[in-house]
Amino acid sequence: MTKRIYLSPPHMSGREKEFVNEAFDSNWIAPLGPMVDAFEREMADYIGIKHSTALASGTAALHLALILAGVSQGDEIICSSFTFSASANAIVYQGARPVFIDSDEKTWNIDPDLLSEFLEDASKRGKLPKAVIAVDLYGQCADYDRIVPLCEEYGIPLIEDAAEALGASYKKKMAGTFGKMGVLSFNGNKIITTSGGGMLLSDDKELIEKARFLATQARDPAPHYEHSEIGYNYRMSNILAAVGRGQLTVIEERVSAKRKIFDKYFNELKDLSGISFMPEAPYGRSNRWLTCIVVEPSAFGATREDIRLALEEENIESRPLWKPMHLQPVFKDCRMIGGSVSEELFEKGLCLPSGTNMSAEEQTRVIEIIRKRYNEGRKVRSEM
Ligand SMILES: Cc1ncc(COP(=O)(O)O)c(C=O)c1O
Repeated sequence: MTKRIYLSPPHMSGREKEFVNEAFDSNWIAPLGPMVDAFEREMADYIGIKHSTALASGTAALHLALILAGVSQGDEIICSSFTFSASANAIVYQGARPVFIDSDEKTWNIDPDLLSEFLEDASKRGKLPKAVIAVDLYGQCADYDRIVPLCEEYGIPLIEDAAEALGASYKKKMAGTFGKMGVLSFNGNKIITTSGGGMLLSDDKELIEKARFLATQARDPAPHYEHSEIGYNYRMSNILAAVGRGQLTVIEERVSAKRKIFDKYFNELKDLSGISFMPEAPYGRSNRWLTCIVVEPSAFGATREDIRLALEEENIESRPLWKPMHLQPVFKDCRMIGGSVSEELFEKGLCLPSGTNMSAEEQTRVIEIIRKRYNEGRKVRSEM
């Protein structure tokens, strides 16, 4: 069997060992430490934000962001439906209720028109949501020139879930900087990884200091263990921060590599009728975390599931686009605004292998299998 090709596997840049050795040599292997401080500073500098705190996961960062936004039992929180469940799970951790909003077909991110209509109506009803979570899906920023003023107009804190979008930008400003708080993930499948980790970003020093306090079991300053608030064990370890520092040195190379992967798929598949690609909005630069296609079965001669199975037969991993949250059994009772755009994307969309360590030959194999499936579909049609 040929080596399996994965969707977006983690891989080292080569510089991690240097930092990890430094951490071992200094005997800082506990949570916190100088590597964590340096990783936070270097990431904040790269992104162009004032403050950051490294955490155990992107989910932990989202949870703390909601706590810091004052979210509690019974509050309504706006969230893009077309996302990974982590964006919405954190809302439920706080006992709050997600209100899902459909995607804009031009960006696949939260539809600003639907958001505007919802907020106008909510304001009239006197029941504004407590926060808005905008997700930068598959590495593309949401339309912040529309979203930020809306949140400001109604006085609602914006949380930017940039878990998939490190290195992307919107009008030259980096992903993660648009909300009151921004969230990053360094999970194994992300553009850079600490094997597991996340970060909370903000220009507000007090918010990040409070996040750090909550993430270390909310320990009050005292020689003994004193607690006047409920805390969490959400901090990143010094060793993992060392891995993160090594990875961060190659972030720009990774974005270029991801974009190159997208370009090759695009150039070698664009002539097939029935295939389209995730659009890149003119306002920014996507990090093209995963190359995503949409397959129109009537024109292509096969469904996205046919393609997925054809790839799987050749030991190649691909995956349907995110199943929208409003279609998930666990969120079936939540309110949904619109829905047809994300439903269609889920039905017809597929993420192709996009690992930055995938060779050009491996990518050619993926392309050939998709082309073969297309030709088989055409043959069947011409025989009918
Ligand atoms: C959009 C989105 N939000 C949040 C997360 C959660 O990040 P983590 O896995 O680091 O908890 C992820 C990915 O895992 C994600 O894709």
